[in-house]
Amino acid sequence: MQNNRQIAIFGGGGFLGRHLMRELTKLDFRIKVATRNPYLKGYLKQQGNAGQIELFKTNIFNENEVKKIISNCDFVINLVGILYETKNQKFVDIHEQFPYLLSKLCSENGIKKLVHISALGVEEKFDSKYKQSKLNGEKNIKDNFKPSIIMRPSIVFGPEDKFFNTFASLVQISPILPLIGGGKTKFSPIYVGDVAEAIVKSLSLNNSQPKIYELGGPEVYSFKELMEILLTEIKKKRFLISIPFSFAKFQSYFLQLMPKPLLTPDQVDLLKNNAIATGNYPTLKDLGINGKTIQSILPKYIYRFRTGGQFG
Ligand SMILES: NC(=O)c1ccc[n+]([C@@H]2O[C@H](COP(=O)([O-])OP(=O)(O)OC[C@H]3O[C@@H](n4cnc5c(N)ncnc54)[C@H](OP(=O)(O)O)[C@@H]3O)[C@@H](O)[C@H]2O)c1
Repeated sequence: MQNNRQIAIFGGGGFLGRHLMRELTKLDFRIKVATRNPYLKGYLKQQGNAGQIELFKTNIFNENEVKKIISNCDFVINLVGILYETKNQKFVDIHEQFPYLLSKLCSENGIKKLVHISALGVEEKFDSKYKQSKLNGEKNIKDNFKPSIIMRPSIVFGPEDKFFNTFASLVQISPILPLIGGGKTKFSPIYVGDVAEAIVKSLSLNNSQPKIYELGGPEVYSFKELMEILLTEIKKKRFLISIPFSFAKFQSYFLQLMPKPLLTPDQVDLLKNNAIATGNYPTLKDLGINGKTIQSILPKYIYRFRTGGQFG
């Protein structure tokens, strides 16, 4: 396919970005990836033909640098996000201020479409700073750039995901798996390839007003059910222990001090609310995509946590 369209991706070096890049290169897009460290992300270039993917060292809070990336682009995709705050990375900056700057610049520079990745369940009133910042980021995008698309995925799974891989790693070192709040929080996990396909399809939508999609997989599961699926798949037995939210919050004050925090107080608040579609917005089906089930994908990458790996 001949395609001279150029696309800028912010946060393209992450989990979702790598899968999205694969879809976009198949369609011959020319891709500019803004990253903090192009030297560490050089492998991304191998996903395209020579010169098809360019990496740019970018400070996303520097207006001139962001403007340089989006110049001459038709489309812009924002995948920048963090799960927990650090001394230098605050939700308000990453999830609110950057979307404000990016959408303002997209509007001033004739960009045709901006696709912004938010998260499922950001609409209600929440204690979680993560969700509040995601909601404020959506508002900034909607105010500044009308032909925008906002994607709200539930937990995203696939090779290199943080959800199943993190808990599978925990299984290797712990005889128990904690079920915060009894493990009743509901999710509809979505395959990373389906999110990537949804983003690509949304580029050809002809919307003049902001449009929100709620992206969930075909099934809804409680956190406890997801842990049971994981244990069955990696053929391990562990005690599933219910922990009240209050105790989990107490523990999280210590666990957040780890270099890669295992649990933060904000994540405990996050778990108090379900991450499933409300039914008030279009979904994967409206984009003509049949979401893949966990059972059809998880065995393909999680086997490495079995005793004996793929032969286990
Ligand atoms: N994965 C999920 O289950 C899930 C669920 C719901 C929503 N989401 C949202 O989907 C988006 C993509 O998620 P993901 O799983 O692909 O996340 P990821 O693997 O952690 O990637 C996030 C990207 O954000 C960029 N980033 C973080 N801090 C930055 C900063 N200060 N300056 C510049 N870039 C920064 C990183 O870019 P560089 O390191 O290249 O600079 C990284 O590539 C995020 O907005 C996330 O909140 C994900």
